[in-house]
Amino acid sequence: MTDLYLTGIGHLTTHDGDPVTDAVVVIEGGRITYAGKAGDAPAKGNIPALDCGGRAVIPGFVDAHTHLVFAGERADEFRRRMGGEPYQSIAASGGGILSTVRATRTATDEELYQLAAARVTRMIAAGTVAIEVKSGYGLDTATEARLLDVAHRIGDELPVSVKTTFLGAHSVPSEYEGDRDGYIDLIVEEMLPAMAGRADYCDVFVEEGVFSVDEARVIFEAAAGFGLRARVHAEQLGHSGGALLAAELGAASADHLDHATPDDAAALAAAGVAAVLVPGASYTLRSQQAPGPMLWAAGCVVAIATDCNPGTSYLEAMGLAISLAVVQMGLTVDQALWASTRGGALSLELADHGMLRPGAVGDLVVLDAPSPVHIAYRPATNLAWATVRHGAISHRV
Ligand code: NIG
Ligand code: FE
Repeated sequence: MTDLYLTGIGHLTTHDGDPVTDAVVVIEGGRITYAGKAGDAPAKGNIPALDCGGRAVIPGFVDAHTHLVFAGERADEFRRRMGGEPYQSIAASGGGILSTVRATRTATDEELYQLAAARVTRMIAAGTVAIEVKSGYGLDTATEARLLDVAHRIGDELPVSVKTTFLGAHSVPSEYEGDRDGYIDLIVEEMLPAMAGRADYCDVFVEEGVFSVDEARVIFEAAAGFGLRARVHAEQLGHSGGALLAAELGAASADHLDHATPDDAAALAAAGVAAVLVPGASYTLRSQQAPGPMLWAAGCVVAIATDCNPGTSYLEAMGLAISLAVVQMGLTVDQALWASTRGGALSLELADHGMLRPGAVGDLVVLDAPSPVHIAYRPATNLAWATVRHGAISHRV
């Protein structure tokens, strides 16, 4: 079913003009053909109908930053961190990313797929219609390729749009301890050629003790040769220059940005680099939130994402990310709603996603609430009453 006629919409957010009350949305062939006042809507004809019963409708969530494909979990590490042990010292003692790498390398393709599919199914049930998926828990050519292949299988078999990002430079794997240049050579000479057909983007974790700006530049320049634009883990735990590198390279996005400065924001805005903010990571790390209002005021395209990963943000629902963006980061409700839909879409170069107007994809969420304000206001309640993707109902309470 790719045609759907949604009636009884009490409050419609289109991101193409002001919200509309008493609205209708019509989807034909998977695309919006009408979104507006019920009184002006075309006749229903024999299109299947969904009566929203006065509920609010918004564009589907576009989750522009996830580390979705991994095995194992790190609950004990979380418990230790909540007891006061720092993230970096746990990582330095073999925990952190490298512990997930060990679990992921030994998992089969099918196990990785089933684990990721279960997460995506919960994301869809919370209103998500499109996701970005990073590799980064393989750190060898074969496993990185397997993670991206699993991400593609998710997009092929589940009702969600997928964009993929190669994150081989997430950490230096233990077999290259003491030989970081050797690992960077491996990324450039062996991994990137193997990932070129599998990934849309290349990411590097630019952070003190992880990868430097100069190391990242080498990787991103090689990736550009394979047509992969940059997405950059930048200014997450400290300020190390990743944002200015993203601006210099004309990256698609700079992500995290907890320690971004006004100069970073101005450079990102001028270069048209989206600022993808992940409030769940700052929340879970008990660290400062990114300066969302400052980035917004500087003119950046701001996106909100879950950063779903087993270490710093085991978050699947975009609703909680929105609530954190509002309550803890300081975005307005309207800004956070835009950032979690249209902002995410723009950061992923999905021009026809994240808004509801004729020609856009028929991707939306029917909220079990009279307005989308309730998403931020009632953070522990999943308000997704129905998720619609390309005109088909992908979740229904
Ligand atoms: O986005 N910053 C780097 N990567 C992840 C964390 C990965 C992990 O701890 O497993 C993040 O926070
Ligand atoms: Fe991340």
